Amino acid sequence: MNQDYIIPNAWSIIEEGFEKDRVKSSESLFSIGNGAMGQRANFEEFYSGDTFQGSYIAGVYYPDKTKVGWWKNGYPEYFAKVLNAPVWIGIDIEINGEKFDLNTCKEVKNFRRELNMKEGLLDRSFMAILPSGLEIEVFVRRFLSADLDELGAIKYDIKPINGDAKIVFKPYVDAAVKNEDANWEEIFWEPISSEIKGEQGFVQARTFKTHFEVVTFMQNKILVNGSYQQIAPTNAVNTETKVEFTYEVEVKANDTTTIEKFGGYVVSTNHPKNELINAAENVLSQANEQGYEQLLINQKEAWAKIWEMADITIEGDTKAQQGIRFNIFQLNQTYSGKDARLNIGPKGFTGEKYGGSTYWDTEAYCLPFYMVTKNQEVARNLLMYRFNQLDKAIENGEKLGFNKGAALYPMVTMNGEECHNEWEITFEEIHRNGAIAFAIYNYVRFTGDQTYIPEAGLEVLLGIARFWKQRVNWSNDKKQYVMLGVTGPNEYENNVNNNFHSNYCAQWCMNYLLEQVENVKTNYPEDFARIAAKTNITDAELAEMKEVAANIYFPFSEELGIYLQQDGFLDKDLTPVSELSKEERPINQKWSWDRILRSAYIKQADVLQSFYYFEDQFSKEQLEKHFDFYEPLTVHESSLSPCVHSIQAATLGRMEQAYTFYLRTSRLDLDDYNKEVHEGLHITSMAGTWMSIVEGFGGMRVKNDQLYFEPRLPEQWEGFTFKVNFRHQILKVIVNKGETTFELEGTEPLEVYVFDQKVVVQPSI
Ligand code: BGC
Repeated sequence: MNQDYIIPNAWSIIEEGFEKDRVKSSESLFSIGNGAMGQRANFEEFYSGDTFQGSYIAGVYYPDKTKVGWWKNGYPEYFAKVLNAPVWIGIDIEINGEKFDLNTCKEVKNFRRELNMKEGLLDRSFMAILPSGLEIEVFVRRFLSADLDELGAIKYDIKPINGDAKIVFKPYVDAAVKNEDANWEEIFWEPISSEIKGEQGFVQARTFKTHFEVVTFMQNKILVNGSYQQIAPTNAVNTETKVEFTYEVEVKANDTTTIEKFGGYVVSTNHPKNELINAAENVLSQANEQGYEQLLINQKEAWAKIWEMADITIEGDTKAQQGIRFNIFQLNQTYSGKDARLNIGPKGFTGEKYGGSTYWDTEAYCLPFYMVTKNQEVARNLLMYRFNQLDKAIENGEKLGFNKGAALYPMVTMNGEECHNEWEITFEEIHRNGAIAFAIYNYVRFTGDQTYIPEAGLEVLLGIARFWKQRVNWSNDKKQYVMLGVTGPNEYENNVNNNFHSNYCAQWCMNYLLEQVENVKTNYPEDFARIAAKTNITDAELAEMKEVAANIYFPFSEELGIYLQQDGFLDKDLTPVSELSKEERPINQKWSWDRILRSAYIKQADVLQSFYYFEDQFSKEQLEKHFDFYEPLTVHESSLSPCVHSIQAATLGRMEQAYTFYLRTSRLDLDDYNKEVHEGLHITSMAGTWMSIVEGFGGMRVKNDQLYFEPRLPEQWEGFTFKVNFRHQILKVIVNKGETTFELEGTEPLEVYVFDQKVVVQPSI
């Protein structure tokens, strides 16, 4: 049974009732972020129950010294941990001398949380009977400004119901925080100073080793029945790590007293270290100038703008609608595309797991979402991120024994250095190089931007192609090039030979490089001369590459007519997943690793990942055959799995199956399919959910510089719409029962194809 406490609603995530054992899951689900920082839905006030505290700052990490049982040459020195940052949301509360704590109240009634995705707001309300018998009504609103991205705001209302009350608010900022996931139980933050300036508090701290400096700041105001009060703090204290103010308010029964808190972070990645306090004061003065209500209006407007482009509407299926909006909301909270140094971590700002920030997830799954719903610049920034880390990828290749400019991009990284340390993944899960090259192709195919490859992309493609050329070896037995000792996307078998997907990526990357060398040589000769001088690329090397690419081995079963996932795949027991008992699933929690590795069960699309990237190189019959062979063996225990299968099922016209996969990907966290939502959300797979609608049900493809659609409506839906930012014009696709229509914001008519029939869309807006 999956979790089902989230109330279906088209625009909000809603929880009703206070259940202590749901607190950690809800802290993940109700997380908020603004691209620059993020915050789990921890309570502002003290909570003595089970909780997972998390506040995160984009790009700020700690290199936690690697801990492994048996060191292998080539392992990285550290794993980049996403840091739990100092607390800015904290407001401890005392009511008539009692510390307020939801965990110890006599009763909590009408508890409700609402994550208002339309406006980017998190609300919490409840009534509580305190141990003393006093009943209070509470409403809390919090948001991270999408506008001023160093700022967060909180409004905390308390109304005593059955008696007068003395309410003491103790807002604080505090750098004494820990990570749950720390290899050596170390503290990651070193306090530098704390300062009180009038009613503003600042705590400056630096990360050990990486020396990021952060000032966490706050300022508070008190209101009674909605009017600002001239109430000065009765106490203001600072320790090495913390600043805390005390505000005391005496109110009558049914009077509402409010604390408004502005807080947030300024970081040395954006400001000089010695000007951080000034920068924080500056953010606070901008916030004060606008005031809470204006900030709220701006927040709503900023989100309205995001939704204007990114929204997908679904008619007739509230759960599916809620699912896709939740995914789109979280993706926008995680990465705004404003800062090319940042990327999209698998957990975004919702948990510590996976550390690092960048996996192959970005190129294989996330790029299309940002490319189509934002502008070209944002997608280009994601590609530039890898270009800027090319030297480190070449160093990484050298560390493993490759040479002459062969680049192996890391499995997980923050700054270009490898952070992952399991040999079967770090050294062998090399299909990530394929994803990075494919993303360049995908970007050029969609945007038509021909300048990226000569300016930056060709060097990346060359480094990657050089790696593949060196990674294969000639087999005298097969008289072809083979690739030994790899792990494909399916991490449920390691160290296999001739993983189809890896071999396919290798061949495709080398061929694409050769094609692009010709393109740049002919059309951008100056760029070519610059790149040739820098990389020592020679005709002899390219000729060798051509020979290798033409002779890559692919395991194939003549009898079944399918490509094999790896050389030994058919030796396995091929009992389909449907015959496993429920008690055995998920196998990664129920079976030993040894048993998993020997089984035929597939974690996520592997052969089918190639069919997804390179769809146009296979026939529909081939897709069907491979889908029918591999999907029944797939357990979908990676969040990245259902979306690819949903797209392929839709392409094959299997709408019921496509719909089931869609629900699984879009509600993976809301319904907690993988039973781990308390650790954080699966952000990168959320982009896969978006692909399931646009590429799956919408059937969108780009061929020869034009958009093609094959819209297919799941039976459960009345219709759906989405928007595509295609080469500076915005096309709205409206799919209804029996017809697909378009609206175009732009200046030029746009030719698109619907089931291969040409449709000319005139600009209408
Ligand atoms: C998947 C990988 C993915 C990683 C981060 C793993 O469970 O198997 O493909 O890169 O999660 O999302």
